[in-house]
Amino acid sequence: MPSADEIRDAQRATWARLSASWEKWDAVITEQLGPVGTAIIESLDIAEDQQHLDIAAGTGEPGLTIARLSPKGRVVLTDLAAEMLDVATRRARAQGVDNIDTKVCSADDLPFEDATFDSVSVRFGYMFFPDMGKATAEFARVLKPGGRLCSSVWVKPEENPWTTIAMQAIATEAVVAPPDPDGPSMYRCAAPGQVGALYEGAGLHDVAEWDVDVELVTRSPEQYWEMISEHVSLAVAALQQVDDLARQQIRANAITKVSAFEKDGKVRVPGVARCIVGTKLSPPSAHSARSAQP
Ligand SMILES: C[S@@+](CC[C@H](N)C(=O)[O-])C[C@H]1O[C@@H](n2cnc3c(N)ncnc32)[C@H](O)[C@@H]1O
Repeated sequence: MPSADEIRDAQRATWARLSASWEKWDAVITEQLGPVGTAIIESLDIAEDQQHLDIAAGTGEPGLTIARLSPKGRVVLTDLAAEMLDVATRRARAQGVDNIDTKVCSADDLPFEDATFDSVSVRFGYMFFPDMGKATAEFARVLKPGGRLCSSVWVKPEENPWTTIAMQAIATEAVVAPPDPDGPSMYRCAAPGQVGALYEGAGLHDVAEWDVDVELVTRSPEQYWEMISEHVSLAVAALQQVDDLARQQIRANAITKVSAFEKDGKVRVPGVARCIVGTKLSPPSAHSARSAQP
């Protein structure tokens, strides 16, 4: 089992490499993951002066949308990979968003004072953290009393054909080892209740989870393959093991399979994510503490 430092180093290198593809495919990713960002934002009750922390912000979502909804507030975008935050900064500039700061740091070791933020979001970051319990304790620590944490993870692969089509095509030509259940991987947090239990372990209350449908929409089966093979961490890692000939075969298999999802001149492949929300309790007021005494 790799150490926490080794996991962080590997993740940093992976996401630094993937950052150019995430920027290239920004419009498609934004559309696909938009419903999850919307669900997170709705659960956080964002005020116009919100102080918000976006963890594993990557290329900037949902943090940038929250910054736009909160013109008198401030959003801190954090990520392990500086290259991903560089993309977020370019996107912020292009959108005219200037009430943000970026900070390179790991989710399990946050450089912020206790009780700094009204809300924390983590869209598709949890599964990559070396110590998910320690990270959750950090999120609870930096939340103000009454503040909310909302994150999202992927449910099981069977409900996410947008990746399984590609992974099944890859498996016809390469040995894809099952991921270490304790190590970072895309479906590590798929079990219902898993992330909610981490929230409760960190002392959060009113924990609830719900599923959100997504749809990956591309112009053609060929564009589907181009996009997936360039930006999905699982697929990129598996494809590194195969030669050009095998890669061509995998591409042809994936394109044939995904053609079943062509509809109205586009390819529309479904998926399901899960959102989890929890609240940090306010300490009892001096008055209620006194009146509770015998
Ligand atoms: C799938 S991307 C999600 C990006 C963005 N939140 C979104 O939904 O579009 C996962 C991000 O997690 C980041 N990450 C991985 N390990 C991390 C850690 N230990 N601390 C903070 N961020 C981490 C990666 O660098 C990457 O940007």
